Amino acid sequence: MPCCSQAQFPGCCDYWPPAAAMSRDLKGEFATMRNKSVIVTGATAGIGRAAALQLASLRADVVVTGRDPERGRATEEALRAAGSPRARFVRADHSTLDGNLALAAEVKHLVDRVDVLVNNVGGLMPRRQITADDAEMTLALNVRAPVVLTDQLRPVLCRDGLVVNVASDAFSWFRGDPFEGPDEAGDYEPFRAYARAKLLLVLATLAQGRELRPEGMRVVAVNPGPAWTPGTRALNPNCMPAPKVMWPIVRLVQRSRSADQAARVLTRVVAAPDDVLRPGVTGCYVSARGKVRDLGALGDDLERQERAVRTGWALGNASAPERRGSDA
Ligand SMILES: NC(=O)c1ccc[n+]([C@@H]2O[C@H](COP(=O)([O-])OP(=O)(O)OC[C@H]3O[C@@H](n4cnc5c(N)ncnc54)[C@H](OP(=O)(O)O)[C@@H]3O)[C@@H](O)[C@H]2O)c1
Repeated sequence: MPCCSQAQFPGCCDYWPPAAAMSRDLKGEFATMRNKSVIVTGATAGIGRAAALQLASLRADVVVTGRDPERGRATEEALRAAGSPRARFVRADHSTLDGNLALAAEVKHLVDRVDVLVNNVGGLMPRRQITADDAEMTLALNVRAPVVLTDQLRPVLCRDGLVVNVASDAFSWFRGDPFEGPDEAGDYEPFRAYARAKLLLVLATLAQGRELRPEGMRVVAVNPGPAWTPGTRALNPNCMPAPKVMWPIVRLVQRSRSADQAARVLTRVVAAPDDVLRPGVTGCYVSARGKVRDLGALGDDLERQERAVRTGWALGNASAPERRGSDA
């Protein structure tokens, strides 16, 4: 019996063994994405960079973001060499509300439409950090950035546009009320904060999927599965709820899967959404095996879904624009 059928380890069998299909040549697998405008956030390293390169090899016009200009320039060059001559790096700090609003404004100047937004930036913070606008970092990157960017880029998102929120099965490990704590100073548990943030992201995905459906746009949460990235390399045994003796196993699982393999899960949803999602399906969660997962009671809880979007906007002390999704 797979261990993930037990409530203790939800979803863990999605990743093991690594899917053989992951190593196939992309061009034989997917149709060209020529003239498709794709934004990937936090994409100068890790899974985001790998996904951006894969999409560039399919000829998409890719815009990537990150804070470090050197890494950004190197990524831009690599994307152009991979097949995306108009690829651009845009420097952005997704940790603050203003950083996300400024990025959305810049993107609207750079491109006349967005076909796909991949909200990839995020991750687990080994120690508690507070953003320049007084938000807890895990929530700021994993919830606020995707919620705000999706709303702000809505005016330029194509009618058949797609938003991919990069999620994690960690969300299903969270116990308690995601609208309360656990981000008090001195009471910070890295994995719990991450699981909570990804749960809020999944809830917000369901709300935004419903909201954008009448305009023909789709919003989905996708779990790329574990991968060896700068983000995972920076973790330590104190970040995980598992007993310390399990740490070598956690590391083995992370090391056994490359950013490229994890990125294939995202690329498949972006490049061939109809292979993964039935027509019209939006506001859902896609597993690392590319299967839409039933979210049970979460799927019916419209009040908490809407609240997750409002939570994303309300973090910290920055004042948000009056109307979400406005062009202002
Ligand atoms: N890796 C895994 O095992 C795993 C598993 C499941 C889900 N995920 C999810 O997959 C996504 C990517 O994970 P990853 O492990 O590839 O991440 P990562 O290695 O930590 O990603 C680093 C990227 O994010 C950028 N970045 C970090 N903070 C930023 C900020 N404040 N503003 C702008 N850019 C920022 C970095 O560029 P700069 O440093 O230049 O800013 C870099 O491009 C996350 O949402 C994560 O939760 C990961």
